[in-house]
Amino acid sequence: MKPVIAIYPGSFDPLTNGHLDLIERGAKIFDELIVAILRNSEKEPLFSVEERLEFIRAMTGKRDNVRVDSFDGLMVDYALKVGATAVLRGIRAISDYEYELQMALMNRKLEPRLETVFMMPAETYSYLSSRLVREVAMLGGSVRGLVPELVEKKLREKLAPARARRTQSKQAINE
Ligand code: PNS
Repeated sequence: MKPVIAIYPGSFDPLTNGHLDLIERGAKIFDELIVAILRNSEKEPLFSVEERLEFIRAMTGKRDNVRVDSFDGLMVDYALKVGATAVLRGIRAISDYEYELQMALMNRKLEPRLETVFMMPAETYSYLSSRLVREVAMLGGSVRGLVPELVEKKLREKLAPARARRTQSKQAINE
């Protein structure tokens, strides 16, 4: 039988433990899982694509059926190019469903041979998102246990100047 290749596309800005949980689950059911970072996102990312590739590589290096890549343009075109027949996406709560359904159906319209497979991350991560991680870290809250240690360290480094500016302007207001 032909090996089943799946892609797990996303922004991963940054990688969270919820993403890792899903990668672990996906790697168990697919022969090969390609974690694919979108390059041409409309959102201004906190971490460069290269930094995000490095985080995922560092955390999945031991899994020999997981690879990391980046892509531009339509996800379905990239999936066909790498020989994938499935797209893995995570659904944390019912609120994710509407957007994910829309995207899955549009992708099916674009490429009917590609099947979207939804998996649920562990309930511990049901509230976790990259956006909240960025926000909490920016405002000085702890993201320990929510992201890999490497990401936690890089978040601290990356956000230190912005946090210092915030503290200074707060002090200036209070003076
Ligand atoms: O982690 P995200 O930001 O929720 O991931 C969204 C992603 C990257 C999967 C989606 O935006 C995507 O596939 N973009 C590529 C462009 C594309 O194919 N658009 C049509 C989607 S229906």
